[in-house]
This record gives sequence, C-alpha cells and structure tokens, in this order.
Amino acid sequence: MAELRVDILTLFPGMFSGPFAESIVRRAIDRDLIAIHIHNLREWGVGKHKVVDDCPFGGGAGMVMKPEPLFEAVEALRAQSSLAAPVILLTPQGRTFDQRVAAELATFDQMVLICGHYEGIDERVREGLATDEISIGDYVLTGGELAAMVVVDAVSRLVPGVLGSDESAANDSHAGGLLEYPQYTRPQTYRSRRTPDVLLSGNHAQIAKWRRERSVLRTLDRRPELLKEADLSRDERAMVSRKLMEKDQEAALSSDDGVLDAEALPRR
Ligand code: 6GU
Repeated sequence: MAELRVDILTLFPGMFSGPFAESIVRRAIDRDLIAIHIHNLREWGVGKHKVVDDCPFGGGAGMVMKPEPLFEAVEALRAQSSLAAPVILLTPQGRTFDQRVAAELATFDQMVLICGHYEGIDERVREGLATDEISIGDYVLTGGELAAMVVVDAVSRLVPGVLGSDESAANDSHAGGLLEYPQYTRPQTYRSRRTPDVLLSGNHAQIAKWRRERSVLRTLDRRPELLKEADLSRDERAMVSRKLMEKDQEAALSSDDGVLDAEALPRR
C-alpha cells in the first residue's frame, strides 16, 4: 500500500494529466509511494442530466456547486478507506497553504481534496463535509484544481522515500525557515561572473559557514518576516541585529531631516 493516498474530486479531471505524469511525483507514483485517484464529480451528478451546480438561492450571478454530488462522492470514498482522512476544500477562503501546512498534511496516510468551482460551493459542504479549507495564496484562480496540484506536489515530496538523499527535503528553502543559499555550477566563470572562491576551496567547513551566512542574509534582505520563526544560533541573531542597526542608521542618514542626501537630489 502507498504511504499516501490522495483522492481528488473535480469537475475537470483532464487538468490533472500533466503535473502528475512527470518528474518526481510521477516517479513516486511509479514506485507506489503515493497513489493519486482523480474522480469526476459528474459521476455523482443529480438525475439523468448529472447536474452538479445550480443557481444561488436569493439570486445573484453565477452558479453554486450542489451539495449532493460532493457528499455522495466522499461517502463512496469513505466506504473504501479510512474514516480519519481529512476532507480538504480548496477555495480562496481557506487558510493559507505554506510549508508548515504541507508538513502537517504529510503526516496523514490519506486525504480527500475537493476542487471548488463556479461562484462557490453550497455552505452545507463547508459545515458538514469538509474538515479543512485551504487557499494557496491571495489571488483568485478559476478553480481549485491548480491549488490541489500545488498541495499534492508540496506534500508528496515530504513523504519518506519520495526524494532521493541528494534531493533531501531537510535543507530546502523554508525547511529551517530560511531561504536557500546561492548555487553555482560549471563553468566557473560565466559572462565575467565568477563563482565565489570559497566554493572552489575544498574547505567544507568554510563552505558550510558561507552558505549558512548567505541563507540568513538573503532571508533578511528578501523575507525578513521569516526570521522571527527561523532556527538561528545566538551568533546569527547577533549578526541579524547588527545588520538591522546598520540599515536603521543608513535610513536615518538619508531621511529628510535637513542633512544633505544624495538620494534626495533631483535626478538628471
Ligand atoms: Cl484553493 N481556489 C481558487 N479558486 N482560487 C485560489 C485558491 C483556491 N487559492 C488561491 N486562489
């Protein structure tokens, strides 16, 4: 049996043929580490016409996904497998997906993902069926399918054995709460940009130190809010405080306080 089984309920099963048929997720499926089952919600559509959506009560634009196909589909899946599996609704109103949520989901051996569509989903699905609601960020997609693919991809690579040891998830960007350090490969100099000497030195302690420092500095520069939660040593915290103080001083010197400031001069 696979380490992780994902059942995806969607109105557009064809959308999933690409991402799961390539690369690492494909290899994990081939090796039976994960199993992904795509189900067409229309199979549980109501009546002869297999209706899956209807007009909103109270009026208004757009269609709403009916509750019956979703409840019946999840019940059919539950009959096949574990009752404990989370049932996750992908909608822009969910909690925001991040590496921590990915790690949390990777602890389950099964999950059901429901891809939201149209203007919305009947509220009874939220109240009585879904155990969790997830969004992948503050922008609006045409449906939950791409979000489901993102979730499956990020969770799959955390399943033991899915990544080779050289791809290991342990020192990823975001894993220790820091961004990744800069990487270089051959050629040593490319378009006059040189690989930093330390990486060619063969001194592994020095290399590790340089990488760690670059991770911290890059995080400070690009995503300072991540540092609050990051795993930093005492020395690293001290370095961050020092950099922040230097920045403060620069800001004070260049602020509009009567001191001559080159940045404030009109540009030619
Ligand atoms: Cl899960 N669904 C839709 N439709 N839009 C989104 C989203 C989900 N996450 C971010 N935007």
